[in-house]
Amino acid sequence: MVRKLELIDPPFNSTVLDLIIKIDYLRKRELVGSTHPSLFFQLKHLFHILESIGSARIEGNHTTIAEYIDNEVYNNSTNKESIQEIRNNEKAISFIEEVIDSTPINRAFVAELHKIVVKDLEREGSHNPGEYRNHNLEITGSTHSPPDATIVNDLMIELFDFINNIDSEKYDLIKISLAHHRFVWIHPFDNGNGRTVRLLTYAMMIKMGFKVNQGRIINPTAVFCSDRNKYYNALQEADSGSESGLLNWIEYVLSGLSIEIEKVDNLLDYNYVENKIFIPAVKRAEEREVLTKDEAKVLLVAIKNQEFKTSMLNKVYKNKDSVKLSRLVRKLRDRKLLIPVEENSRVYVFSFISNELMRFVMQMLDEEGFLPLKDEI
Ligand SMILES: Nc1ncnc2c1ncn2[C@@H]1O[C@H](COP(=O)(O)OP(=O)(O)OP(=O)(O)O)[C@@H](O)[C@H]1O
Ligand SMILES: [Mg+2]
Repeated sequence: MVRKLELIDPPFNSTVLDLIIKIDYLRKRELVGSTHPSLFFQLKHLFHILESIGSARIEGNHTTIAEYIDNEVYNNSTNKESIQEIRNNEKAISFIEEVIDSTPINRAFVAELHKIVVKDLEREGSHNPGEYRNHNLEITGSTHSPPDATIVNDLMIELFDFINNIDSEKYDLIKISLAHHRFVWIHPFDNGNGRTVRLLTYAMMIKMGFKVNQGRIINPTAVFCSDRNKYYNALQEADSGSESGLLNWIEYVLSGLSIEIEKVDNLLDYNYVENKIFIPAVKRAEEREVLTKDEAKVLLVAIKNQEFKTSMLNKVYKNKDSVKLSRLVRKLRDRKLLIPVEENSRVYVFSFISNELMRFVMQMLDEEGFLPLKDEI
């Protein structure tokens, strides 16, 4: 007999309850940060890349971050499976953000996620993208045997009912955690279940009101992918279906989320971003001769002011003629290290997406503990 999927009530004195209260507070808090929206948006983009690399890596995708960045920056077109897998994940994240407000979380939605995730992959692909499996299987590295293929459809119907049932908001985080486990416990697809469920968790978090689109970056992959053994052990505890096993699983998910949310909220504080990420990144790029001394100097002015105008340079360069300064700015603009705040504007912001500085910004994020993976960049 398969255990019925239902909510559980954490004891009042449990860590799970403390975590729910804490994360709920973070969910409701207004997000007004001092980081310029354009800069924050770029950071968010980097996090999506990390998210995708992390999610792919868990099943042995050994693409290094550096390799991926080279692909992004220098457009080395490749059909390498590992890179394709990361691209797929990024597409799935964009898809979620585009449709989530108008799409219910149902079979069609999950099927679409699965299709995007396994697209054009062989080793990590699927024989039936978007379709439930019609054979039984085992999960490598786990002792759990997923239920018989004949009942997968019914179990998935139960899962979507569980997700969409209207319950008090206080259960949202419990629901998210239990849905994650139940999904991979069912293992509806022949492959790609892990990647799909991590995206499902992301989608559910947005639906629950984590304002990712307006400012908060959450990175559920970091929760699940920073330590694969911990993730697998926690899932295994939940497999038993016992109350303590399920509560331990929920505690595992929520403590990861809570750490992640706090860390990422730092990025709204421009003082932090400027001093811990941007300035050191530019200085390192200068040391490595990716930037000349003057280029670095101009970028530092842009970073300090967030919105940059060429006239700001008059203060730092008292004797330089304005033609030379304009040329310097134009070069930085051509290299996309400065981008206009809006089309045709002469006001610029510092940019580090898909250009030579991306790697250095990533390195600083790594040194500040933001990367879900240990890797050389
Ligand atoms: N004991 C377990 N109970 C339920 N699910 C588990 C258990 N152990 C592992 N899993 C899940 O199975 C996933 C692996 O399944 P599958 O190979 O279909 O997914 P994938 O996306 O191809 O791989 P990966 O998740 O490794 O990237 C893991 O990511 C995890 O979510
Ligand atoms: Mg797999």
